Amino acid sequence: MISFAMIGAGRIGAVHARSIAAHPDARLVVVADPMEDAAQRIAAGHGARVVADAGAVFDDPSVDAVVVGSPTRFHVDHVLAAVEAGKAVFVEKPIDLDLARADRCIAAVGDRASRVMVGFNRRFDPATADLRGRVLAGEIGPLEQLTIVSRDPAPAPAAYLAGSGGIFKDMTIHDLDTARSMLGEVAEVSAVGQHLDRSVEDEWDAAVVTLHGVSGAVATIINSRHSATGYDQRIEAFGRDGSLRQENVVETAVQAFTAASAGATRPYLHDFLERYAAAYAAELDAFITAIEAGVAPSPTLLDGREALALAEAATEAARTGRRVRVQSR
Ligand SMILES: NC(=O)c1ccc[n+]([C@@H]2O[C@H](COP(=O)([O-])OP(=O)(O)OC[C@H]3O[C@@H](n4cnc5c(N)ncnc54)[C@H](O)[C@@H]3O)[C@@H](O)[C@H]2O)c1
Repeated sequence: MISFAMIGAGRIGAVHARSIAAHPDARLVVVADPMEDAAQRIAAGHGARVVADAGAVFDDPSVDAVVVGSPTRFHVDHVLAAVEAGKAVFVEKPIDLDLARADRCIAAVGDRASRVMVGFNRRFDPATADLRGRVLAGEIGPLEQLTIVSRDPAPAPAAYLAGSGGIFKDMTIHDLDTARSMLGEVAEVSAVGQHLDRSVEDEWDAAVVTLHGVSGAVATIINSRHSATGYDQRIEAFGRDGSLRQENVVETAVQAFTAASAGATRPYLHDFLERYAAAYAAELDAFITAIEAGVAPSPTLLDGREALALAEAATEAARTGRRVRVQSR
């Protein structure tokens, strides 16, 4: 049985608290958030204690593992303090907003990185995992082109966006991780940022990124923070011998054929909480299983670092209009 502390009781904290509560080998013992109401909302249903200061969970001997779901600017401090205290750590993406700071964190964590996992939940989505497995198994021959479409139904709250680090580090980073898990090493990045919705106070609210793989394969990522059709999550992997496509998930397999429409279904699952519910549960299970077995969980801090390097390269490429070489390790 692994006893968890949750740091940050916001949107993603609530998701992970549910996964912990539903897991037979895990329990939530404490929730840390300076907004006590938020912490209380999550803790109440799980019999967990509430603390305002995350510092209190690191010295608590009853805590085996920590989920870091605080705003991104706190991740490095929370990871380092948890690792110092001997806790296993699950940290949300991105590791940090600054690659050099993420690198210093990884250096300070050292060998203890074998007990740290980064929250790239989409790796655990059944459809994405199936597609990736089949690409890597060679079903479509060598990968030539990968296209990822990832659009949110509506922008996140303004307060969240203000600390998010921009579209590439906050949103595209999921797709950058998905792309590199199939494309392998990336040599260069080009990118275009768009500001389409003027009510969004951010540099860009839509983007197109091209990753130029060392293998010669190319990945294109298309993002938007708004989508009238709902949460739009598609992937096409195109290889010499064919293609594999991941289509959107709808709430029913039933299609309607009437005078007004042919093949109409229900709308797409609404947002990341619905679309990736199974993935969030599976990633927490993977973390728990790895920690219990004493093996290193994956995705690793290094995976988080490489995706952040691609996001920084994309930010620079969009600002300068130039292709940017990637600083991979
Ligand atoms: N993997 C995913 O799909 C996914 C989805 C959403 C968010 N995230 C990541 O999770 C993190 C949090 O995002 P969110 O959407 O839950 O944000 P949120 O704003 O909904 O919640 C953040 C919570 O952290 C609390 N907080 C602020 N400072 C804190 C501190 N010092 N210690 C502890 N708690 C503190 C806030 O009071 C708030 O309750 C971000 O890094 C984000 O990138 C990942």
